[in-house]
Amino acid sequence: RHPAGASPLLPARFVRLPVHLFSRKTQMNKLTLKDLSLTGKRVLMRVDFNVPQSKDGGIADDSRIRAALPSIQYVLEHGASLILMSHLGRPKGKDPSLSLAPCAKRLSELLHKPVAMAPDCIGPQVEALAQKLEPGQVLLLENLRFHPAEEEPEKDPSFVKSLARLGDIYINDAFGTAHRAHASTAVIASYFPGRSAAGLLMEKEIVQLSHLIAAPKRPFYAVIGGAKISTKLGVIEQLLTRVDALFLGGGMVYTLLKAQGIPIGDSICEDSQLEVAKKIGQSPKIHLPKDLVIADAVRSDAHARTVGLREGIPAGWQGVDIGLQTVSAWAPQLIKGATVFWNGPLGVTEVPPFAKGTQGIAEALTSCKGTTIVGGGDSVAAIEQMGLGNRFTHLSTGGGAALEFLEFGHLPGIDALSDVL
Ligand code: 3PG
Repeated sequence: RHPAGASPLLPARFVRLPVHLFSRKTQMNKLTLKDLSLTGKRVLMRVDFNVPQSKDGGIADDSRIRAALPSIQYVLEHGASLILMSHLGRPKGKDPSLSLAPCAKRLSELLHKPVAMAPDCIGPQVEALAQKLEPGQVLLLENLRFHPAEEEPEKDPSFVKSLARLGDIYINDAFGTAHRAHASTAVIASYFPGRSAAGLLMEKEIVQLSHLIAAPKRPFYAVIGGAKISTKLGVIEQLLTRVDALFLGGGMVYTLLKAQGIPIGDSICEDSQLEVAKKIGQSPKIHLPKDLVIADAVRSDAHARTVGLREGIPAGWQGVDIGLQTVSAWAPQLIKGATVFWNGPLGVTEVPPFAKGTQGIAEALTSCKGTTIVGGGDSVAAIEQMGLGNRFTHLSTGGGAALEFLEFGHLPGIDALSDVL
């Protein structure tokens, strides 16, 4: 959690609006890539190449690499050399299975030009590689989290100093990691006074997500899914102060049902959150599913059937999706939304028969004429898999970052950037 911290759920707090981020002219009072003169400079850019990996160690989804292309191309077209840095996964020490080398290869294919891969992210060899770069050339540093000081910068200040030596200008385009106050996402900016700026993706994410904070057009609806209510309490609390209705699906629903005394069988449940779940369930803005798909196992070939919400779930069965009656009830209301925000899958989408509720809501939202914004890896992946990505106003590259931005109105990775003077 970033320093703004968490708070007890009710009574609701007010979000700190990101007024300090926005000026009328540029919508942001932080420097952006386009504010800086790049010719002949070495640009050190934090990107979020924390991509999902396939079982063979390849890249299962390259959306985050593609999302960084506008900034990357902008730098290369403006006479600068580019040093990219990212984390991948949560390694404990130097774990070769979490090398960024596959990302260098994929980026090279997308750019149609070589992308050199550094053996590490700091050190004399890396500095020599960075120094040698010509304008238009790209170097990707090895996984920043191979060094513990990336996540705990205070433990070894020499790490961030070594990173900072690599560039003349610092750009943060890693919106997906902007909620982490790490060496490469926040601390490093102080080494580039007046020369640390938001990349184009970062700028786009801030502008789009701010539609949900400043003065969202009404009616404003939110759909929140996902397995754990504990990870979404803060954002649910904030959204309840702003939305006209909040539709809840996914695994978190079973904690709410248990809190209301409804049998949930073997469904996932966070017993430690029952108290708070009971309070959330009492809000008149909350819409729970009308019906649920239940199964005797979380497998494609499991026995499955649909039950009404109040009927509950018998022992030996677990909830795996919202039912079709729920999709039919929610869809007509959601498509009338002037602003709709969605985070988190509504069922176990990795098992195809239990992805139907999420797919039904995704399909329905493509008919919404309002602003539709989706944040979070699993819900975005479901939409992309259906080929519906371009039918939404904005698919955020941030999961946790998007939720924390909505909750707090600012993030450490943005706060650290240079202000427009
Ligand atoms: C993400 O995927 O949410 C970001 O890349 C941050 O990764 P983390 O949760 O491991 O810090």
